[in-house]
Amino acid sequence: MASTASHRRVRIRSEGDVRTVRTAQRIANLPPYLFAEIDRKKARKVAQGIDVISLGIGDPDIPTPQRIVDAMATAIRNPSNHQYPSYVGAPRYRAACAQWMRSRFGVELDSATEVLALIGSKEGIAHLFTAFVDPGDYTLVPGCGYPVYHTGGIMVGGLTHWMPMTEENAFLADFESTPSDVLARTKMMFLSYPNNPTSAIATVEYFDKAIAFAQEHDILLVHDNAYSEIGFDGYVPPSILERPGARDVAIELFSCSKSYNMTGWRVAFAAGNRDAIDALGTVKSNIDSGVFSAVQDAAIEAMLGPQDAVRDLCAIYQRRRDLVLHALSTIGIEAVTPKATIYVWAKVPSGFTSTSFAEKVLEEANVIVAAGSAYGPSGEGFIRISLTTPDDRLEEAVRRIETTL
Ligand SMILES: Cc1ncc(COP(=O)(O)O)c(C=O)c1O
Repeated sequence: MASTASHRRVRIRSEGDVRTVRTAQRIANLPPYLFAEIDRKKARKVAQGIDVISLGIGDPDIPTPQRIVDAMATAIRNPSNHQYPSYVGAPRYRAACAQWMRSRFGVELDSATEVLALIGSKEGIAHLFTAFVDPGDYTLVPGCGYPVYHTGGIMVGGLTHWMPMTEENAFLADFESTPSDVLARTKMMFLSYPNNPTSAIATVEYFDKAIAFAQEHDILLVHDNAYSEIGFDGYVPPSILERPGARDVAIELFSCSKSYNMTGWRVAFAAGNRDAIDALGTVKSNIDSGVFSAVQDAAIEAMLGPQDAVRDLCAIYQRRRDLVLHALSTIGIEAVTPKATIYVWAKVPSGFTSTSFAEKVLEEANVIVAAGSAYGPSGEGFIRISLTTPDDRLEEAVRRIETTL
């Protein structure tokens, strides 16, 4: 992931003179945000009247279920929701999160101390760095993963150690190979299963090893469970908090974004180790003023109302997964059958890198796929295809890709 490598200059005007202010070094250190680049390329094509099919970003195309929209419509008319929300989340929201964790995973939580409302899990991930990482501290980051695990560290002067993920180790991030000098300066380790972008799933043995490793090396283990509800072929993703000892060293992030098609609503929560929850809450109370209370009410409905929309959603993604896998195999592109998430992780044909193949597909087929390498070094050699596009467009996209081969 290349750095933009230079400072930006922000123009200011002072009594007729144009002067500039240099942005902070941390901005210069950031790689370009993956989807901002993709959006720019897409916008250029669309402006030329070209029909671009985007299989890049994982943003569900299906609307939020009506019962959740209705709950929001009621909540927004309630004047008590118009004031500043609670920093940590309304007691009713945190209680609902705890109730959902109990019914979904059998995990008992104290909603007052072990649950924290987040403005989307991205916000929680970014602020965990402010809470835990000093300049020069390491974070163990999956060899390919959600970009903020890496950029969040850059923002605070932290360092990333990429944990290798390979096909041979079933894309389970290899924390055990971390050098001891890095471990001595490590504060946090991120894991995320079901995984974005590889769609890999974790075994309970793997979770247990990760918990023991975090305990042994005094590391906060953060399990990002953004795809907790999207499983196929009968697979139901677990919570790491189900595992013994997890609460001693781990917090887990859950989000309404993918589970309930609520990416635009910005609502999620962190659960687990109470000291870590408290530290993250302290940071947040100095930066944001909480999740809009009406959105919290809608999220309560999402979690505690009937879950049939989740089952329907899984069936839709499973059907799209099969359609894409079938189409890819007919054009000779290999992909593992994912048991979860909204992505197909496919190998690029020989002779290409992730980026050169993604660029070729965009230029020649007007289809956007995400280059695996944009998610970290272990992603090289792969592309990620998002299933958040209607079936006919998915089929059309694979047909177009075929014409480039
Ligand atoms: C693994 C992972 N974590 C976190 C997020 C951010 O989700 P949210 O919408 O809750 O901020 C995403 C979004 O794609 C993701 O894939």
